[in-house]
Amino acid sequence: MKPGNVFLVGLMGAGKTTVGRLLARRLKLRFFDSDREVEQRCGVAIPVIFEIEGEAGFRAREEQVLAELTLLSGIVVATGGGAVLAAENRKRLAAGGTVVYLNARPEDLCERVRNDRGRPLLATDDPLRRLRELHEQRDALYRSVADLVIDTGAQSVQFLARELVEKLEERWKASA
Ligand code: S3P
Repeated sequence: MKPGNVFLVGLMGAGKTTVGRLLARRLKLRFFDSDREVEQRCGVAIPVIFEIEGEAGFRAREEQVLAELTLLSGIVVATGGGAVLAAENRKRLAAGGTVVYLNARPEDLCERVRNDRGRPLLATDDPLRRLRELHEQRDALYRSVADLVIDTGAQSVQFLARELVEKLEERWKASA
């Protein structure tokens, strides 16, 4: 584990990007969002990648971006919700830094992503049902790779970021 690097994992709507950005500011680290990196590299939005190349095409691009990001130092990365599906990604995340799982109830996630059109996996009649299925399928994978699990609920993102900074500094001090 490289101290100084933080990888946020969790389902869509868990707050990885918002919390990650705040965390990076507080820890004076560089922030990356792996979805945005994928989009920048191909010049189109994620729904377009899914449409043209399917989920498999997106996953290959995501894996490439994570392979590059996990080589860097001094970074906070908000990963895409499905990043933990590939064993290779899990290995790279675990070896590349401290992995934080932002866990949330599917009901809360659904509330947060309700008006978002940028997530092809939720383009269904019943996004709550889909989020329940994804939580069921992925919760154990997120936990298997995580050094820290944070249950998010009604707390503000500022509170979450502050709580995380304390926990991370404790861990890094202990391992120094
Ligand atoms: C996905 C989550 C999305 C994005 C893509 C697939 C998933 O990222 O990578 O739409 O499989 O859960 P966010 O978790 O940042 O929304």
